[in-house]
Amino acid sequence: MPVPVITIDGPSGTGKGTIAELLSDRLGWRCLDSGALYRVLGLAAERRGVSLDEADALAEVAAELPVAFVSGRVLLNDEDVSDAIRTEQAGTAASRVAVHPPVRDALLQRQRAMACPPGLVADGRDMGTVVFPSAPLKIFLDASAEVRADRRYKQLKGKGLDANLCALVEDIRARDARDRSRSVAPLCAAEDAVVVDSTAMSIEEVLDRILKEVRRVFPELVP
Ligand code: C5P
Repeated sequence: MPVPVITIDGPSGTGKGTIAELLSDRLGWRCLDSGALYRVLGLAAERRGVSLDEADALAEVAAELPVAFVSGRVLLNDEDVSDAIRTEQAGTAASRVAVHPPVRDALLQRQRAMACPPGLVADGRDMGTVVFPSAPLKIFLDASAEVRADRRYKQLKGKGLDANLCALVEDIRARDARDRSRSVAPLCAAEDAVVVDSTAMSIEEVLDRILKEVRRVFPELVP
């Protein structure tokens, strides 16, 4: 029996990560935050002095990346890098390393290996199109760039950090453009994905909407 997988793809700032965690908790399934892998790789490469443009050298770092996900924390070489990988700079580095096909290949098996019983919720950009193309339920979560930047702005301000809304909109647009236009695994909805536009929805409404789809595809899982 194949392990059931639910994929949640979409651009940055749509709430994918939060939804994937809530959904995996609800189902008692594992959760894969694939963006964290690219973020950790960007950080590891910068620390080792590997250029973010050198595909083969980056793929070598990716193949041996000592990353672990433990109790909601992200560890690199046993160091807790959960906060370090969440900066805007780490997001940009992640999207730069993610354009290289050898890097994506090097991370592919590691992502597939996360699918173990009773199931996996996988969040990213290419979960439904490349990593788990036969997943029975694929969600593509979208929202306008302005709303996504505004959510990020409030998140940063809430943490007492400096933030500039116009700069965030620009960053999000630049990252979207890079993610959508790259030659390999570009950000796009799988043909059989359910597209959910969260622009005017709260996290609870998005979760409810997705749970409806889960009930449809896996009726035995959610009452
Ligand atoms: O989801 P998150 O914002 O953490 O991802 C950071 C970057 O990693 C994205 O902008 C994207 O370029 C890259 N990424 C990717 N494929 C994935 C997940 C993330 O290319 N499956």
